[in-house]
Amino acid sequence: MPEQRAVQITVASPKGGVGKTMTTILLAGEFAAAGHRVTVLDTDPQLSALEWSKNSRRAGYALSNIDVIPINSTDELIDRLAQSDAEDLLLVDVQGTAVAALGPAVANADFVLIPTKAHVFDVKQCLGLIRHIRSLGGRHREIPYSVMLNMVSGIEHNTMAFRTAIQLLRQADASVLETFLSQRPTFASIATAGTLYEVQPVNKAVQDARDQTNALTAEIIRKLNGATPQ
Ligand SMILES: Nc1ncnc2c1ncn2[C@@H]1O[C@H](COP(=O)(O)OP(=O)(O)OP(=O)(O)O)[C@@H](O)[C@H]1O
Ligand SMILES: [Mg+2]
Repeated sequence: MPEQRAVQITVASPKGGVGKTMTTILLAGEFAAAGHRVTVLDTDPQLSALEWSKNSRRAGYALSNIDVIPINSTDELIDRLAQSDAEDLLLVDVQGTAVAALGPAVANADFVLIPTKAHVFDVKQCLGLIRHIRSLGGRHREIPYSVMLNMVSGIEHNTMAFRTAIQLLRQADASVLETFLSQRPTFASIATAGTLYEVQPVNKAVQDARDQTNALTAEIIRKLNGATPQ
C-alpha cells in the first residue's frame, strides 16, 4: 500500500440500493479489526453510514478505530481527502454518476469498488461508471477498480439472468472480483448496527459472514498491493 498518505478506497455505484453502504460498513469493520484507523467519508445526503455509526454507539457497540464523517460538499470532500495521515484508511461512500463528489472520490482513489446486483440493467449501468472511471484517470493514471457482485443467493448462479450479467461484464473486459457477497440476514443486521467483530453471539451465521468479508478484504488488499509501484 502507498506509504505517504492514507489508502483510499471508494465504494461507488450508479444504482441505489445495491449495497454500497453495507459494503463500506463491512470493510470498515474488517480494516478496523486489523488495526487500521478507519475514516468513512459519507458523501450521501441520506447519511446512511453516519446513521449506522450513531445506531451502533447507541446500541453499545464501541466501533473502535472507526470514525464516520458526513461530507456536505465537494470542497469538504477534497479538504478531508487531503487531511488524512499515512496510517489512516479512508473509505468513501458515493452514489450516482452525476454527483459532483464522484470526481474527487474516484480521481484520488487507490481502489474503486463497484458493488452490483447480478442483473443486466444493473451491470449495464456499472459499465457506464467504469467508462467514467477510465476517463477520470485520464492519460496519466489508470484508476484501479473492480466490480463486486452483491446479494447473490445460492440458486442464482444457475439462472439465465445471472449468467447474462456475468457475460456482459466479461465482454466489456471489466475487472470483477472473484469474491462476491451473498444475501445474508447477518449483513443486513450489521448494516443497521454493529460490526462482525463486536456482534454477539458469534454463531455460524456470523462466522460465515466474517469468512466471506475476510475473503473480500484479502482480495482488495491484493489489488491495492498490485497497483502500488514498489
Ligand atoms: N449482501 C446483502 N445481504 C443482505 N442484505 C443486504 C446485502 N447487501 C445489501 N443489503 C441490504 O440492502 C439494503 C440496501 O443496501 P445499502 O443501503 O447498503 O445500499 P446502497 O447502495 O448504499 O443504497 P443507497 O444508494 O440508497 O445509498 C440495505 O437494507 C442493506 O442492509
Ligand atoms: Mg448508501
